[in-house]
Amino acid sequence: MKKHVLIGVTGGIAVYKILDVESKLRKLGYEMNTIMTKNACEFVQPMAFQTISNNYVVTDTFERPHKWEVEHISLAKKADIMLIAPATANVIGKIAHGIADDMLTTTVMAAKCPVVIAPAMNTAMYENEIVQENIAYLKSKGYLFIEPVSGMLACGDVGSGKLASPDEIVAFVEKTIEESLVKEEISQDLKGRHILVTAGPTVEAIDPFRYITNHSSGKQGYAIAESAVKRGAEVVLVSGPVQIPAPEGVKVVTVKSARDMYEVVHEYFNWSDAVIKAAAVADYRPRVESQHKVKKTGLDDMTLELVRNPDILQSLGEIKSHQVLVGFAAETDNVVEYAMQKIAKKHLDFIVANNIAQQGAGFKGDTNIATIIEANGQITETGQMSKHALGDAILDKVKCYFK
Ligand code: C5P
Repeated sequence: MKKHVLIGVTGGIAVYKILDVESKLRKLGYEMNTIMTKNACEFVQPMAFQTISNNYVVTDTFERPHKWEVEHISLAKKADIMLIAPATANVIGKIAHGIADDMLTTTVMAAKCPVVIAPAMNTAMYENEIVQENIAYLKSKGYLFIEPVSGMLACGDVGSGKLASPDEIVAFVEKTIEESLVKEEISQDLKGRHILVTAGPTVEAIDPFRYITNHSSGKQGYAIAESAVKRGAEVVLVSGPVQIPAPEGVKVVTVKSARDMYEVVHEYFNWSDAVIKAAAVADYRPRVESQHKVKKTGLDDMTLELVRNPDILQSLGEIKSHQVLVGFAAETDNVVEYAMQKIAKKHLDFIVANNIAQQGAGFKGDTNIATIIEANGQITETGQMSKHALGDAILDKVKCYFK
């Protein structure tokens, strides 16, 4: 498929050189769109870019803020790379400070693809401390720069600030696209895999108004699901009631009780290549779910009779074929010993154990500290990390177990 280059042109005398850049990119088979700032249009007519790029040019010369809303997002989404050339001190300053007041700066803000900036300006402007600080800041945020070269500038000064040559700009764009393709390939390491994740608490009804549950936030399971989908897997997330939004691209099936979760997980088990059971499933539920509100009696004490819920993970362990099975263990003591027992009892490949009494681990926060205990006895201490990073570490381990 043709790669799409989105070119932002700002108002400097070097604008005419971008016609050459576009002509070269077109010969190489790239698809292009051009966004010109008002000032850029003072130097070269949009029609010239339209003809060279063989595609429409977006400008701010007509009042049409209503179109930005849609257009800047669709252009940003379509782009495999965004090139801003020539980039004035003004546009660099705006991007560095989060200003989005025209079509070009609004689009850069929405861009998720690599953004390449080719500055061109007078030497004194280029060497200005504020401009240099803006460039350094943008570099630290991942923006790429094609350094200007030294030479005779349009104003007659000699020094750095001259736009890099069209050949150099085209080569940089090509190299950046190739690198991002390689990165994308590496990052899609779970493509074709089906991963079932459970998350959150279960809720066990006493009557229509009351229930037994736990403090699980669902954050760890949701983070695993999000990482898996980013890495190319198809993901089904079976979730108890939680307060966090569904990750993009993940199919979420919401459940309440352990028995609901049991049904849904079994429904997807044959489809799954791996099951990661991060949910905090209630071990017990009230023996009777009253259809009416349970009334208080004249007595001081009240006994609620509980019965065991099915152990979902164990039931999967009994029927597993090719599936990788991962359990979670929230313990407060003897973490490794209990985990080894669970691995054996539930036929797991590994367990992610965390000591929920430890600061920085457990239910509510954004970080976790885990010990990964494998059926072969290997033990990995992760140290404190974000729940997303732990999600990736778990998925790396799952990958090793795929048949
Ligand atoms: O035995 P324990 O409850 O500590 O095991 C925890 C692991 O088992 C978790 O992965 C949890 O999702 C799963 N589990 C389950 N069904 C239950 C209880 C726990 O699948 N009824």
